[in-house]
Amino acid sequence: MESIVLEAPAKINLVLDIKGKRPDGYHELETVMHQINLVDRIHIKTNGEAGINLTTDHPGLTCGQENLAYRAAQLIFQESGCTTGIQVLIEKRIPLGAGLAGGSSDAAAVLSGINRLFELGYDITQLMGMAGCLGSDVPFCLLGIESAGATALARGRGEILQTLPHCILPWILIVNPGFELSTAEAYRYFSLDAVKTRPDLSAFLAAWNECAIIDIARQLSNVLETVSIPRCPLIEGIKQDMVARGALKALMSGSGPTVFGLYHEEAAARWAEQYFQSHYSQVHLVSSYSRGDYYAGK
Ligand code: C5P
Repeated sequence: MESIVLEAPAKINLVLDIKGKRPDGYHELETVMHQINLVDRIHIKTNGEAGINLTTDHPGLTCGQENLAYRAAQLIFQESGCTTGIQVLIEKRIPLGAGLAGGSSDAAAVLSGINRLFELGYDITQLMGMAGCLGSDVPFCLLGIESAGATALARGRGEILQTLPHCILPWILIVNPGFELSTAEAYRYFSLDAVKTRPDLSAFLAAWNECAIIDIARQLSNVLETVSIPRCPLIEGIKQDMVARGALKALMSGSGPTVFGLYHEEAAARWAEQYFQSHYSQVHLVSSYSRGDYYAGK
């Protein structure tokens, strides 16, 4: 095999709770992550010249050491002692700095792709170890890429994963307001004192296990909204607009600024999609991810 193409799906956080700050500076999380069919495509091929050559079709994305996908390639080469040159092309569709784990998913796809392309023979546990060194969301993204798409309860920094049963959310409207937010900053400014209502994880899991979309929607909750909404009130505006346009509920994903809304019916979702498209450039009507079913762009 000389080349491989992988899908790197975005995730949304259906529940995100922070239990406290850890001695290592990270925050102890309890979050449910869910992959959606908004995907980057990662093309990897062997190259005559030694080293890692990363390119992308997105003008705002840097392609050196600062790109997590580059560091993923470096890490797995270092671990394996592989010295063959590779070329990696990232076809970017997931908005940057959006709370959708686009960069983490690209990195996970690079780990998975290089392992397969060079038949390095790492099993999922070994790949997960490397993923955890790259970032808190990378193990979840890898889990989904190695299976047919994933929903998982994540604890610890985000790397302790428990896979949840399969449930398809048919209409998820994604609206990105077109600016980036720093995850590190959101966590830095987080204070438990500002949280008025905590997510009810057991109620969420009960709804999820039944795949009861109305009850799932009712339990959507993200404590990082207490940081990002006061800094960017537009996020709250988008949430309210979504509910006014038929969403069962709308929530910020991760540390934002992307907002997603769950819809029960196609007609309402498409009507809302049209409305948001006339106001924002990054609007995607998607569903839960399953492999082979990817968002091809508009
Ligand atoms: O792990 P990752 O590099 O993606 O995290 C980005 C930043 O978000 C970290 O540097 C840290 O400041 C913050 N973070 C945190 N607790 C977590 C995950 C991330 O404080 N569980």
